[in-house]
Amino acid sequence: MNALRFPDDFVWGAATSAYQVEGATGEDGRGPSVWDTFAAVPGNVKDGDTGDPGADQYHRYGEDIELMADLGLDSYRFSVAWPRVQPTGTGKPNQKGLDYYRRLVDGLAERGIRPMATLFHWDLPQELQDRGGWENRDTAARFADYAEIVFDALPIRDWLTINEPKTVVECGYRFGSHAPGFTDDGRAFVALHHLLLAHGLASQVLHEQHRGRRIGPALNLHPTYPSDDTPEALEAARHQDGLENRVYLDPIFKGFYPEDTLRWISERSPMREHILEGDLVTISEPIDILGVQYYTPVFVDGSGERVFLHEKAQADWLEIYPEGMYDILARLTRDYPSVPIVITENGLPTLDVPGPDGHVRDEGRISYLRDHLTAMHRAIGEGARVEGYHVWSLLDNFEWAEGYSQRFGIVYVDYENQRRIPKDSALWFREVVKSGELR
Ligand code: FCB
Repeated sequence: MNALRFPDDFVWGAATSAYQVEGATGEDGRGPSVWDTFAAVPGNVKDGDTGDPGADQYHRYGEDIELMADLGLDSYRFSVAWPRVQPTGTGKPNQKGLDYYRRLVDGLAERGIRPMATLFHWDLPQELQDRGGWENRDTAARFADYAEIVFDALPIRDWLTINEPKTVVECGYRFGSHAPGFTDDGRAFVALHHLLLAHGLASQVLHEQHRGRRIGPALNLHPTYPSDDTPEALEAARHQDGLENRVYLDPIFKGFYPEDTLRWISERSPMREHILEGDLVTISEPIDILGVQYYTPVFVDGSGERVFLHEKAQADWLEIYPEGMYDILARLTRDYPSVPIVITENGLPTLDVPGPDGHVRDEGRISYLRDHLTAMHRAIGEGARVEGYHVWSLLDNFEWAEGYSQRFGIVYVDYENQRRIPKDSALWFREVVKSGELR
């Protein structure tokens, strides 16, 4: 096969999030978040793991920046922990929290690595949760205040508002597997609306106060397909597409919720009552970049049940289907207004163990990444405006309810001593980054 060449200015990076890698949850004035609370309850997280010590990046960011420089990365996507900046979610900023991110950003700049920062990657200050969390409209206003503080304090061009609002809605409020751990459709979709409102309000703040910077959401889009060609399966796939994709994309890009999905939601949630005049104008504040996170397709049968037709990863929700990367990018290009797209996450957990020679041979991850990059390349060739790609993740880290049992990093972390070992996939990725080619 001929080498696949990426555009010369293509941005190669890796992603993490605060609660998953930082550790140091009690240091320098950080307040508690919903994930500290959730992880402290026995049974919520595998083996009783918590975000401490994570990958201890709060103390080891300097070493991690060197690692990224060694890998030749152009960009590092990380998240800012709201409870470090505002320990109770409101009021005066905690300078020590801001100083940490300033050191991180300055360190990246010294090595020529661009920061891309996510404002909210699920670690809501606990005190805001106690006041109703995302079910409370006021949380969206508090988020805009927090965003303003962070925009002013950090010299960063590219911002992401909310990481995967869908995962908060589904795992946090419908299935109860993530913080805050509810199983209530009624509350879930009210939270959805306020998450999108928060996205819009923060985007407006950036546009009003910091011209030339860019902002957008980070959406995990799941291309949905019928598992057979019966009319029932086709209909179920369309419904699923509403819940997976359109209910997030349509309000942001088009200023309305999809009617079919809204009808279904209204049968189980008072969400509609929470949509006030002007909200959809706020939510559809034009975005400058779209963060796309792709891991898995969703195939559904005629009864709407998810079926798995391809090899599954170690994570039981992840079906390996690189064509889905192509399909979702082609669909965005076809059905939505054109904005620059950045792949903000894509990756695979594997059972990684260092061999006797110290190498971590993660062949499965290499072929997953190769196949997904190939699919992305094809979409770019057909007009998808993808300007960058971030592998999830730079480092092994706290994988939410799975604790430390799932390793997504291209760099192995030995949790006994926090030693970092670039896996074979990192060495492979370095070649792709260096050459700008997939061979
Ligand atoms: C995404 C999350 C990220 C990580 C990966 C595996 O849903 O945004 O934090 O857990 O999945």
